[in-house]
Amino acid sequence: MAEATPTTQRPNARVDVSRALTQIMRHGRTLEWIRGNRSQWLATALHQELLFGTLRHYLSLQALVGSHLKKPLKPRDLDIMHVMLVGAYQLNHTQIAEHAAINECVTASKALGKAWAKGLINAVLRSIQRQLLSESAQVSDPRGEHPDWMADLLTNQYGDAATQLMAANNQRAPMTLRINPCVISTADYKAQLKAAAINFTEGPWPEALTLEQPQPAADLPGWYGGACAVQDLGAQCASQIMMQLLTDHATGDGTLRLLDACAAPGGKLFHLKEMLTVAGIAHRLYALDNKANRLEDLARIGRRLGHRTEEYHDQHSENTNHQDDGQEDSVTLSCADAGESPLPFNEAFDAILIDAPCTGSGTIRRNPDIRLLLSPQALLQQPPQQQRLLQNLWQHVKPGGTLVYSTCSVFAEENDQVIQSFLVKNKDAHVVPLHLSLGHPTRHGLQLLPTNTLTDGFFYCALSKAPSTVSVS
Ligand SMILES: C[S@@+](CC[C@H](N)C(=O)[O-])C[C@H]1O[C@@H](n2cnc3c(N)ncnc32)[C@H](O)[C@@H]1O
Repeated sequence: MAEATPTTQRPNARVDVSRALTQIMRHGRTLEWIRGNRSQWLATALHQELLFGTLRHYLSLQALVGSHLKKPLKPRDLDIMHVMLVGAYQLNHTQIAEHAAINECVTASKALGKAWAKGLINAVLRSIQRQLLSESAQVSDPRGEHPDWMADLLTNQYGDAATQLMAANNQRAPMTLRINPCVISTADYKAQLKAAAINFTEGPWPEALTLEQPQPAADLPGWYGGACAVQDLGAQCASQIMMQLLTDHATGDGTLRLLDACAAPGGKLFHLKEMLTVAGIAHRLYALDNKANRLEDLARIGRRLGHRTEEYHDQHSENTNHQDDGQEDSVTLSCADAGESPLPFNEAFDAILIDAPCTGSGTIRRNPDIRLLLSPQALLQQPPQQQRLLQNLWQHVKPGGTLVYSTCSVFAEENDQVIQSFLVKNKDAHVVPLHLSLGHPTRHGLQLLPTNTLTDGFFYCALSKAPSTVSVS
């Protein structure tokens, strides 16, 4: 693999990547935190390659480096351990000239203020180099790249298919675009991509294009004019499902009132907005999230795509120039806990989307830190929250209306099991079978897996509310 030319004056990417790894492994920071707070550590393609690659193979590299150390390093020298992991990653998983990989790692120790570690890094990496030369190519074991508890849980749930799933977790995810039909037609956008020599494959629906090579989003044609958004194909299924339900389970012939209850940063919300607009369906779209900064991101993303947002004003509050319903072309936002009633919006909804907070275990390809940071305890904290959201929001679905529950998780604990305990308590809820060309049916919904290479892992379940039920809102 060719190394990218660093575009900044930063001295040695290994130093930055070691620091990033230490933030993740010692302080429990996420890649998202690094993107938001230490973006210099991801400054170049080389930084990204080294950080993502080392995270993907962290556990096996840790075992490899450990087996070449005469004694374990002190906890305070985790940064040195990380430099060696980066070096071992390059020796093991890339085509870089080996002496260059080793020399850069040796140099990094000085920049970390630990010149004493030069000899150690050199010795360990050269020893690994000799081992690799003397061994025939090793087939990496995807299980060894996951914590034991996670590998056991996946095996328990998916049986033999768990190995493929864990192998898929180590692949690079494709970059899929969603063309914004409110700005440009699919045909015109495809022509623009071709003119820019950006190759893609189409489908499974007209607005989805998967690029052969990921690109910086800002370099895409029409990016600043809102011609497209970057959105995993699995995430795009949410709006396909919502549109299907709205067609099949219409609650009346008036304006549809729709709620995205966990909306930020708005990927699914704006996709739905675009589909409703293009289909000419009269609607009012409402969005909740309990994090104000994420709602600000949502509004900013909406502006780029040409979608207006407005903050909801309670009609009873003072000094308000409140419009009770907002305007059809604008999405009404409010920052609130979707698990608590009353909701800020004085509405009952024809359909609600709950894209629930979850472990993100379906997105490990894109977020390889998840497998290292997630614990069984953290997984077990999710379902009660997910059930709370589902139970509360169900009250706000109109009789005859629908609710879509989704996660980007592959664990049944956050998916079918949440739905199962909900169904036991809510006899007015009925599962609506889902028909999509992606994913496989589970007891109550549809599970998409990265094994299909096209999508991240997502779960979808659609519920309809008995028409005769009296809704309490
Ligand atoms: C999976 S993300 C949503 C992604 C979004 N639907 C999209 O497609 O871009 C889950 C969101 O739920 C929000 N959230 C978590 N707990 C919440 C709660 N109790 N009430 C409302 N939103 C919540 C988080 O802040 C986060 O933005």
